[in-house]
Amino acid sequence: MFNITFVFTQLMFSSVYKRLVTMLPVQMCISNASAASRLTLQSFRFYCQKTPMKLRICEAVSRLDVGSKITVQGWVRSVRLQKQNLFLHVNDGSCLQSLQVVASAALNQRLLTFGSAVAVSGCLVKSPSRGQEVELQATQIDVVGECNTVDFPFKIKERHDLEYIRQFPHLRCRTNTFSSLLRIRSQATTAIHSYFEEKGFIQVHTPVVTSNDCEGAGELFQVELAGQEKKSGQEEDQHFFSVPAYLTVSGQLHLECIAGAFPGVYSFGPTFRAENSQSRRHLAEFYMVEAEISFTQTLESIMKVMEDLFRSTTEHLLARCPDDVALFHKHVKPRHNINVDLMMKKRFNVITYTEAIDILNSSSQTFAFKPDWGFDLQTEHEKYLVKHCGNVPLFVTDYPYTLKPFYARDNLDLPLHTVSAVDLLVPGVGELCGGTLREERLELLKKRLELTGLDETYGWYLDLRQFGSVPHGGFGMGFERYLQCVLGVDNIKDVIPFPRYSRSCLL
Ligand code: 4AD
Ligand code: MG
Repeated sequence: MFNITFVFTQLMFSSVYKRLVTMLPVQMCISNASAASRLTLQSFRFYCQKTPMKLRICEAVSRLDVGSKITVQGWVRSVRLQKQNLFLHVNDGSCLQSLQVVASAALNQRLLTFGSAVAVSGCLVKSPSRGQEVELQATQIDVVGECNTVDFPFKIKERHDLEYIRQFPHLRCRTNTFSSLLRIRSQATTAIHSYFEEKGFIQVHTPVVTSNDCEGAGELFQVELAGQEKKSGQEEDQHFFSVPAYLTVSGQLHLECIAGAFPGVYSFGPTFRAENSQSRRHLAEFYMVEAEISFTQTLESIMKVMEDLFRSTTEHLLARCPDDVALFHKHVKPRHNINVDLMMKKRFNVITYTEAIDILNSSSQTFAFKPDWGFDLQTEHEKYLVKHCGNVPLFVTDYPYTLKPFYARDNLDLPLHTVSAVDLLVPGVGELCGGTLREERLELLKKRLELTGLDETYGWYLDLRQFGSVPHGGFGMGFERYLQCVLGVDNIKDVIPFPRYSRSCLL
């Protein structure tokens, strides 16, 4: 009875059910619901005998109702032929686990190899051997797509390292590690959207093409028509958009516009930096989560959102893809789960930039770049500070005025002269988030823009401070760096499907 009820409940939501219902006379569906249910169940039994249910592998391996006739589709992860029996492991990317398929050796065929794509039908049974709860006793195996195992870069049962699989961006999703990474990336994306949704933030699609350089660092990719000769005449005739246009380095300024009418807004999209860097934490194209909060006057309120976002996304990942995360903590960075546990248990630390420089200067470590007040913290400094403060994430606040962009709020603390800016530094990676309170005082902002000759360009930005301006602030979190931090991945190129960096744009 339990089994039938279970199957029926599952069925109610399945495409098989929808197909069945459309086969029933409409009147019957409406006028006599319970009779229709009985009839549907009977029809289903009949229908099911003829057409096995198509299941994803994650559904098949967690199925309680053994005895069902099912079909799975996926890619062969292992093949073992014995005298009487053929054993396969089939994976379809829906979970880390593969489904064990047992068939008569008579079903073996030449094209059934490691890496081939297959459709397998049969009966789901309780597995007599250890290692899996259920297995599929196959009655039919169709090879949908063959795989040339000689040229296929991945070999059966071999665990290739991340550097090796990175050479095959078009194929690396076929490996267990990258398949796990893609599921984790997808779940982390969901978690981030859920976090902001629960907190009442509005998601904004900020533009990918923009005419501003938000960070003012000049790391811009210009966008122009391909293959166009330079035209003579007016400057505006030279450009498709009449003005020079770029791929966005940050959606912050657009978010600030929208934050003029909402208490909290966020964006999550690709951002671009023309950094001529081969480092393990820089990409030319990366995903950034950015939030902007209105009616706030404290850096602490921004830091709270950063910390909460980190915790809730990580909790979600640990709960929703424990096997995938465990793979990284076992094979990519062994015992990294201990570091993640520590980050989740302890409160994040807070120090000022000035304190950070003092700590660095009193350290016995020799740095390649000598730490000095007024200069940017280097990755080696950031990593040292995090370790020094207990290997948990560390907020560094109140940076020198000259180090941060024009929008950062002046602390008016001469002679030191700092701004209300905060970076969140995390173990193993360094800077994960950067945020500031925004300068909302019109006169101060105007003066700063005038000094840099940007007052005309940013006339619209000054407008924001004149029409119902409120104190506000926000931050950006590098999504790939977040994944590096939680999974213990050393190279940022291994946490994004198709990495773009200087001198490389494969595919
Ligand atoms: O610190 P950044 O440059 O801050 C901004 O862009 C602000 N406008 C964000 C805001 O306040 N809305 O960048 C934010 C984060 C960094 O802390 C880092 O994690 C990541 O983006 N990031 C990169 N990640 C990968 N590759 C790069 N080249 C990156 N540059 C920045
Ligand atoms: Mg930064």
